[in-house]
Amino acid sequence: MEGVVVDNRLLNDKYGLMCIESPEFVKNAKPGQFLMIKTQLHNYLYDPLLRRPLGICDVNLKRGTFSLLYMIIGKGTKLLSNIAKEAVISFSEPLGTPFNLTADKKIAAIGGGVGIAPMLFLTKTLYENNSVDVYYGGAEEKDILLTHVFEKYSNNMKISTNDGSVGKKGFVTDLVENIDSYDKVYACGPKPMLKAAFELVKDIGEIDFEVSLEERMACGVGACLGCIIYINDERTEKIKQVRCCAEGPVFDGKQIVWDTVCKEQL
Ligand SMILES: Cc1cc2nc3c(=O)[nH]c(=O)nc-3n(C[C@H](O)[C@H](O)[C@H](O)COP(=O)(O)OP(=O)(O)OC[C@H]3O[C@@H](n4cnc5c(N)ncnc54)[C@H](O)[C@@H]3O)c2cc1C
Ligand code: FES
Repeated sequence: MEGVVVDNRLLNDKYGLMCIESPEFVKNAKPGQFLMIKTQLHNYLYDPLLRRPLGICDVNLKRGTFSLLYMIIGKGTKLLSNIAKEAVISFSEPLGTPFNLTADKKIAAIGGGVGIAPMLFLTKTLYENNSVDVYYGGAEEKDILLTHVFEKYSNNMKISTNDGSVGKKGFVTDLVENIDSYDKVYACGPKPMLKAAFELVKDIGEIDFEVSLEERMACGVGACLGCIIYINDERTEKIKQVRCCAEGPVFDGKQIVWDTVCKEQL
């Protein structure tokens, strides 16, 4: 699939926001899905060879546009940040399992760092039929972005930063009081943050918990088996391997074997 870059701007020296026109993509995109995007425009350039996975941050059905919020951390995202307006960019169709949407529920949406990207499309969609509280955490002020949009599409928003430069000092999960007042918790962010969110809800049977996992991905479509994670299979009561790209990236957070997922970072 191809689309025209209608805007690509740096929000600060760490993050960029790209808006792409592609009515066909927008028509099919659901909150929680992602795409694999080519980060260089010329077909004779093969570095980096692989497309990069990015979550769908927002869509505008009327205009036929969608947005990607990206953190500039390596070669691919650096190249993305240099793409100019009106360039034609190549990407996959919307991939992966979306979040399950609810109605008439009290929702907590917890996002950490760039994990906030898919939470924007999600909270905007949920806000139409639910009460939504957003909990947004980052390492520092630079990580707190698009708050005016989150404010518009949430009943309450609370912010934390590790260094205390914006909002409350500490971890985003520490902001959540009265967890048992929620029907459902959605989360996306660094794995230790997701595990901390799991600790909040794990013993409360009435609370549904959905997470979006950002494993490293090569193919994005289930062929390379490079993005395996472990979940508890309720039916067989055994641990099974699933592909984050094909069976996820959204999972029932209560089924994930968190000690295996967080191993590399804890
Ligand atoms: C389903 C999914 C959705 C994602 N959504 C977003 C998004 O909306 N915005 C965004 O900025 N990023 C998102 N990511 C992460 C993004 O794919 C990586 O940051 C990106 O591929 C890095 O590419 P690069 O070429 O800039 O860095 P590379 O040169 O490939 O790597 C640079 C550094 O980043 C680390 N890294 C690379 N990929 C990941 C990853 N998936 N998770 C954690 N660390 C990584 C590497 O270990 C390395 O230290 C998502 C990942 C997945 C799987
Ligand atoms: S990235 Fe290839 S199987 Fe998931």
